[in-house]
Amino acid sequence: MEFDEVIRKRRTVRVFRDDPVDEATLRLVLEAGNQAPSACNVQGWRFRRLDGAEKEKLVRLGGADFIAKAPFACLVLYPFSSDTYDDEVQSAAACIENMFLKAIDLGLGGCWVCHLPASRRLRCALDIPWHYRIIACVVLGYPGKEPRPVARKSTVDQLFELEQPRLTFRALAKYLYMRQPFRPAFIENIFTKRFEN
Ligand SMILES: Cc1cc2nc3c(=O)[nH]c(=O)nc-3n(C[C@H](O)[C@H](O)[C@H](O)COP(=O)(O)O)c2cc1C
Repeated sequence: MEFDEVIRKRRTVRVFRDDPVDEATLRLVLEAGNQAPSACNVQGWRFRRLDGAEKEKLVRLGGADFIAKAPFACLVLYPFSSDTYDDEVQSAAACIENMFLKAIDLGLGGCWVCHLPASRRLRCALDIPWHYRIIACVVLGYPGKEPRPVARKSTVDQLFELEQPRLTFRALAKYLYMRQPFRPAFIENIFTKRFEN
């Protein structure tokens, strides 16, 4: 597929066909991830593949429910760094995006998932060594339906315009929402995400 087409066609997919993704295809996706740039060239990304029971466990502990139905799921891990710019997150994110772009190129779809249980719980449940930060879960499979386009919120010119922070009702509500367990239903309603794809 042409590079621009891959970029344009990349959309998050949360509904998958049952067909498994064969190992050779997965390997191509992982190889693309492994080509990503990384701070100080650490290349510290590691993958913890989840089997069926582990996917269900992760959902039971509070992860996004579609993870259980994805043919392939893995946690992306990266050794903790002491850098103030979160090197490990940025490096792992570069790896993850490479993986998704390759996945699109191969006809797969997937979702970058941070709706996960608290990392301490997840670490214990899946026996993840303490020196790895859990960055995200990557799920992949063949799309169950054609994803719909997702509009851009800004034009390229607007990307240079910096907004001043404003104390709005929404900002205040978001603050309350983030401070679980105080989460009244009307605030829950405002911030519960609803996706079309
Ligand atoms: C860091 C990050 C975390 C995300 N976490 C979730 C998630 O937990 N659950 C989910 O359904 N989608 C998640 N997404 C996917 C976004 O919701 C999605 O990218 C966004 O809605 C725009 O849609 P698009 O990817 O089709 O352009 C995440 C994406 C990123 C980059």
